[in-house]
This record gives sequence, C-alpha cells and structure tokens, in this order.
Amino acid sequence: MNKISIKLGLLFFAFILILEIILFSFLYTGLVDSRIDEELAELKARGESHRHVLEKSFDKTTIEHVALMETEADTDVVIMTHKGKVLAKSNELTSPMKRLMKHERGSVPFEGMIVEKRWATESYISTVSPIVIDDRLIGHVYMFKSTNSIQTMVYKLKQHFILVGSLTIILTVITVFFLSKVITLPLIRMKQATKALSKGDFTVVVSHRSKDELGELAESIQTLANDLNHLKKERNEFLASISHELRTPLTYVKGYADIAKRKGVSDEERNNYLQIIYEEAEHLSGLVKDLFDLAKVDQHSFVIQKEKVSLCEFTNKIAEKVRPAFMKKGIELFHSCPDGLFAMIDRPRLEQVMINLLDNSLKYSNRNSKVRLQVEHDQTKNKIELSVIDEGIGIPKEEIPFIFNRLYRVEKSRSRESGGSGLGLSIVKEIVEAHGGQINIVSELGKGTKVTIELEGCK
Ligand SMILES: Nc1ncnc2c1ncn2[C@@H]1O[C@H](COP(=O)(O)OP(=O)(O)OP(=O)(O)O)[C@@H](O)[C@H]1O
Ligand SMILES: [Mg+2]
Repeated sequence: MNKISIKLGLLFFAFILILEIILFSFLYTGLVDSRIDEELAELKARGESHRHVLEKSFDKTTIEHVALMETEADTDVVIMTHKGKVLAKSNELTSPMKRLMKHERGSVPFEGMIVEKRWATESYISTVSPIVIDDRLIGHVYMFKSTNSIQTMVYKLKQHFILVGSLTIILTVITVFFLSKVITLPLIRMKQATKALSKGDFTVVVSHRSKDELGELAESIQTLANDLNHLKKERNEFLASISHELRTPLTYVKGYADIAKRKGVSDEERNNYLQIIYEEAEHLSGLVKDLFDLAKVDQHSFVIQKEKVSLCEFTNKIAEKVRPAFMKKGIELFHSCPDGLFAMIDRPRLEQVMINLLDNSLKYSNRNSKVRLQVEHDQTKNKIELSVIDEGIGIPKEEIPFIFNRLYRVEKSRSRESGGSGLGLSIVKEIVEAHGGQINIVSELGKGTKVTIELEGCK
C-alpha cells in the first residue's frame, strides 16, 4: 500500500463514515420516534373508545366490563371519578401508576391527553380521557402501557442498526480500498517511471489507456522518456564520432612528429613532415571551431541578430570572396540576383551558411564544371530563395535524409581526402532554422546538387 492511496482511502473513508453516521442516526431516531408516536396514539384511541362506551352507560356492569376487557391486553385501564376515587382497574395499581394519576385533572381537554411519554426512563407511558355526560365531568379513563415492551422493541431496532451499520462499514472499507488502488495506480506507475528516468533509465514504458488528464500526463512522460532516450543515443554516437574524428589527425601528427625527430632525416623530408603536421593541425582547429559553433547553437547563447540586408550586395560580396578558390580548381562561378531584394538576416551567420554551401559545391565538383549562386523572389509566397547549384558528383537519394546529421558524410574516405568532417550542413541547418527559414536539397548522383534556402522577404 502506498502513501497516496492510504491518504486517499482514509479521506474517502472518513467522508463516507460521517455521511453514514448522519444518515443512520436520522433514520434511527425517526423510526423510534414514529414507533413511539404510534404506540401513544393507539393507547389514546383505546382510552377514547372506553370512554365512549362509558359515556353511553356509566353503570357498574359496564365499568367492570371495560376493566375486564383490559386484563387480557398488554395495556391497563383505570377508571376513576372526577374526584379521584378509583372505580375499576384492570390490574393491581403500581406506585408509578399512582404517581402518574396524581396530576391536575381539571385541565384534561375534551379529546384527552398524553400523561407520560418518556418511554426510555419511565415504567409506563400513559394517556387520560375525560368521561363527560350531559356536559358534566363524571370521571376519567387512564390508559397505561408498560415501557418494557417498547424498550425491547427499540433494543431490537438498535441491534439491527448496529448489524447493518457494521456491514456497511466493512463494505465501505473494501470499496474504498479497491477504489483508491485503482485511482492511484496510474500515478504510482508514473512515479516509478519518472524515478527511473531520473536515474538515467530512459527505456521506461508508461502505459496510458485513459483519455483523461492522467492519460495525457502519462503520454507526456512517455514522450519525454523517448526524447531523452533519443538524445542519449545521439549524444553517445556523436561523442564516438567526435573522438574518432579527433584521433585520426592526432595519430598523423604524432606519427610524423616522431619521424621528424629522428636523426638522419634530411631537411627536405623534415619540412615535408612538418607541412603534413601543419595541415593536420589546421584541420583539427577547423574541426574544433565547428564543434564550438555547434555547442553555441545548442546552448541558448546563440542569438540571431537580424538586420535588413540587401541580398544582391550580400551575395555579391560572398561570390567575390570565394571566387579565387573556384578559379584555382578551374570551376566557373556564376552569380545572379534581381535588384531590390531585402531580408532580415544575421549577416555574419548567413555568410557562414553561404560559404559552407559554396565550399561543398567546390569540394564535390570536378574541374571545368559550373556553380551558380542565385537569389530569387517567389512573388506568391513572398519568400526569398538563395540557391547554390553545382554540376558535381551529387548525393545518392537514400543519403539525403541524413545529410544534415552531425559528422555525417556520404563517403567517409572521399571527404576525408577533401578535409570535410561532416559538420558543415548541420551547422547550416541550425542557423537557417534559427532565422525561421528552411533548407532543401535536390540532388542527382553524377549530375549535380541544388541546395535552396528559403527565407522571409521584406520590403
Ligand atoms: N554539393 C554537394 N555535392 C555532393 N555531395 C555533397 C554536397 N554537399 C554535401 N555533400 C555530401 O554531404 C556530406 C555532408 O556535408 P557537410 O557539409 O555537412 O560535411 P563536409 O563537407 O564533409 O564537412 P565540413 O563541411 O564540415 O567541412 C558531405 O560529406 C558530402 O558527402
Ligand atoms: Mg561542407
């Protein structure tokens, strides 16, 4: 049994118990009261009928007859004159009877009255009716009933109530026990799931069949667990690739440094080795810079500071910047841009994006091919499209979905040669998305690739 179901159960139980006690006591007192009222009314009615008989003929025979009639019943009658003299009685008078008959009889109303109704403490309940003949008060008829029988009846009633009450309480306890278990079960499951999550076990499964708030909560926890699990896997893979990426150039650096150190190595050879070491170190520092960029994108310290930029001027500058590298490889770079296009962008960041894309086109294109950097305006969507189009080696269709993953390269050995680490496009994507834009790649193996960045235009 867990804390919450105990709490809930006790709360339910206390509430239902109070409700039951109130209902039962109402029922009990109501029943007892109405039984007593019935008894009193019956007693009085009996007295009244005797009185009617006596009012018709108030003679000795009738009086004795009336007394005789009561000897067999569980009630008693006493007939007395208006002065208090007992004319007849159905049984011996006991002292409580005598005490009850001592009250002021002048005030007895015509329809009779109740003399004693305290059944719980007294020995009798009693009524009195006046005998009136020709408007003259002749005497009184007293009726008595021993309270023993009433007390037994009430006692039996009480026993019944105790029995039914205890049964109800037992049933309540059982119901509350199961109910609180059922209600708290999903909560307990979720608690266990979050506990497991906090311990780093992200493989938890939280079942959620209900469509209510609890179900939604369970679903959220499940999503959280799945996301965390995914993140954990991704991070592990990323770390594995990173360490691999770092190890390879370091092995070269170590190896060549070792050879360069040796005696008997000619100056020319040593310079050669040092050059390789230099290049590897360059590659490493580029990698570290990219990683640092990614880390910044991940943290929220990466803020896009947008300004209004003329896209023609922006792309033109970039084209001029990269042109020497293209010329060196014998690739022609074209630039086209309609006038008067503006967008809100973070200039240095988007420049980083464009240079990355152009660098890919340069790296993955052959001599004597063409690369186009073009800006277009989609009038209907009011979107600006920045594209880099090459006639290079292209990307296999099945690889395109993975191209934005960190450290992902289509052909590992191929891009190692060209010094790529597979981080470029993942950084590009993050930056474009931080701008609220989109990036699309269309590519055909052996024909070429078109990378398009879609941005919101502005006037
Ligand atoms: N224009 C392109 N033509 C052909 N393949 C491309 C092109 N652009 C990207 N790729 C493929 O996608 C992979 C991922 O590109 P990305 O820019 O992320 O990494 P990289 O160029 O290898 O390294 P980095 O950009 O970090 O120096 C590349 O390794 C390459 O195989
Ligand atoms: Mg690249």
